[in-house]
Amino acid sequence: MTGSNTGQYRHFLDLGDAGGDHIAAMINDAINRKAARASKPKGAVDSDAPLAGRVLALVFEKSSTRTRVSFDIAMRQLGGSVLVLDSASSQLGRGESIADTARVLSRMVDAIMLRTDDHAKIEEMARHATIPVINGLTDSSHPCQIVADLLTVIEHGKALPGLDVAWFGDGNNVLHSILEAAGLMKFNVRVAVPEGYEPDSRFVERARTGGATVTITQDAEAAARGADVIVTDTWISMGQAHAEEKLAAMAPYQVNAALLALAKPDAIFLHCLPAHVGEEVSEDVFAGRQSAVFDEAENRIHAQKSVLLWSFGLLGA
Ligand code: CP
Ligand code: NVA
Repeated sequence: MTGSNTGQYRHFLDLGDAGGDHIAAMINDAINRKAARASKPKGAVDSDAPLAGRVLALVFEKSSTRTRVSFDIAMRQLGGSVLVLDSASSQLGRGESIADTARVLSRMVDAIMLRTDDHAKIEEMARHATIPVINGLTDSSHPCQIVADLLTVIEHGKALPGLDVAWFGDGNNVLHSILEAAGLMKFNVRVAVPEGYEPDSRFVERARTGGATVTITQDAEAAARGADVIVTDTWISMGQAHAEEKLAAMAPYQVNAALLALAKPDAIFLHCLPAHVGEEVSEDVFAGRQSAVFDEAENRIHAQKSVLLWSFGLLGA
């Protein structure tokens, strides 16, 4: 679960690779860069073009819309470029090893983003790469998403220390990164999940060790009451079987108007997307005034620019 920092480049396999101070620096940088280019077209380069000439390989073993587009636009705005490798159309899909892929890409490009299933694969990529490796989602975690989520929370006027975040549904990869962030940034997480779908206890323990209060409950209403942020995700993640039994277990954890009404009046609703409206979230909440899901999606660009700069050793001491 940990990446190593080697020389001038840094792997970003999980939020803990950066730590709380550097995540705060990433968020500040994202706010500043976003403001500085507010009037520019989306593909225009930031005035300092800090990654001019650098190429990022985007390697996908799973589908993506936001991660793919936001990394591409992020690199363009930083002055660099990307190439995309889908496993099905590359030699990875025919069994070439992660280690050899890492060695070859390290000779040809300047950084690698990998979206894959088993987290051990990205650790293997990082071990054999001599360039930064960035986690674009694994079965275990989704750290880039959570940098964007934290940025969105702050943009909506909330401070992270002491924040009460309430999660509903499946104890999945996105929740794991929220828990990791909670320990690093000192906010609290109430997790409302059905029995058998709890998050990995290692992420819970890490959050608690960091000083976060983490509550795991089967009582959705108790979790929602007084929360600052209400968040959910698909009940069936990529690679998981579409089981009727799981959908039935999840049904009481839908984020709907009645649940949201229990949160603070200025609470915001987050969802990493893609959403399954009518399942994990009702239409009125998804499209309602407290929903920040499209700010959150846009912020993937701004957050990833900071992650990229950090990975190249250009942000954070
Ligand atoms: N939220 C997110 O990572 O979306 P994609 O799967 O479309 O990349
Ligand atoms: N938990 C979801 C997140 C998608 C961005 C999945 O892994 O499919």
